[in-house]
Parts: sequence; C-alpha cells; structure tokens
Amino acid sequence: MINNWLYKSTALLAPKEQKFRLLLDQARLRNANMDITGYLHWEDGMFYQWIEWPAAELQIVERFIVASTSHKDLTVLSRNSAPSRQFSGWSMALGISDEASLFSFVAARGTTTVNQEDYVASILAFMNVQVRGSDHPG
Ligand SMILES: Cc1cc2nc3c(=O)[nH]c(=O)nc-3n(C[C@H](O)[C@H](O)[C@H](O)COP(=O)(O)O)c2cc1C
Repeated sequence: MINNWLYKSTALLAPKEQKFRLLLDQARLRNANMDITGYLHWEDGMFYQWIEWPAAELQIVERFIVASTSHKDLTVLSRNSAPSRQFSGWSMALGISDEASLFSFVAARGTTTVNQEDYVASILAFMNVQVRGSDHPG
C-alpha cells in the first residue's frame, strides 16, 4: 500500500529564491532514494503538497517536512493509504501559480473549504491536470 498526505502551509520563502531551489533539489534527491513521489504547489505565499510513499518510509520524510523552518502553520488536509500512486515517476513535481492557479481551479469547480473531502478532491484534481492534462491517474 501507498500512504499519502496532503497539507497546506504558509511559505516562508518564495519560488524565486535560491534557497527554494536548493530545498527542492534536496527533497527530490531524498524522495528518489526513498521511492517517494508527489506534487508541490506554491501560490500566494502558501504551499500545498501531496506526498506519497511506501508505508515503511513514513516517519522519515514527515519529520523533515514538519521540522522545516521554510514554512509554518502546517495544516494536514488529508492522510490516507491507497493501492496506487497519483504521481508515479515524479520525485516531486512543482507547480507555481504564475503558470496555473490552484485557487482559480478550485473556485471554478465551485468547491469551498467547508466541505473538506471536496476541497481535497479538487486540489488533487488540479495537481493531476498539471502533470498529465487530465484529472484521473493512470
Ligand atoms: C514545502 C516543503 C516541501 C518539502 N518537501 C520535501 C520532500 O518532498 N521530501 C523531503 O525529503 N523533504 C522535503 N522537505 C524538507 C526539505 O527538503 C529540507 O530538508 C528542509 O526544508 C530543510 O530545513 P529548513 O527549511 O529549515 O532549511 C520539504 C520542505 C518544505 C518547506
């Protein structure tokens, strides 16, 4: 089984900063070594990250992310396990709102943050559209 996790947080650095590139390179290297995949989106000073990993690796990466001083106010939106991955082959895809807006996508679907399940489904659909042009995995 694959465990997955979606959270949002307040970003304390911006995609244009060199430190952000270093952070992402380090994350991708670690992810590749531990068979972790996912999608990281930055918009308007917020991070949204979907991360998925084989059950055995769980604690390690979660600890790095939670401990990072590059963001704060981390809020978990969903935590699940699934038979397959959403972002197979992506050691950490990156989306930036200059190119595609998550907030516009979510609003266009009529999703509100009140219904958590809908909200999570919309965020995931957005991420899927960005990597494969469709909101269905596989
Ligand atoms: C938004 C965000 C996403 C991250 N994603 C990953 C990740 O996918 N895999 C990973 O190993 N570490 C991840 N990290 C942790 C960083 O790679 C790095 O270990 C950490 O940011 C270093 O701590 P610092 O930000 O306090 O300098 C992430 C950190 C942040 C802020």
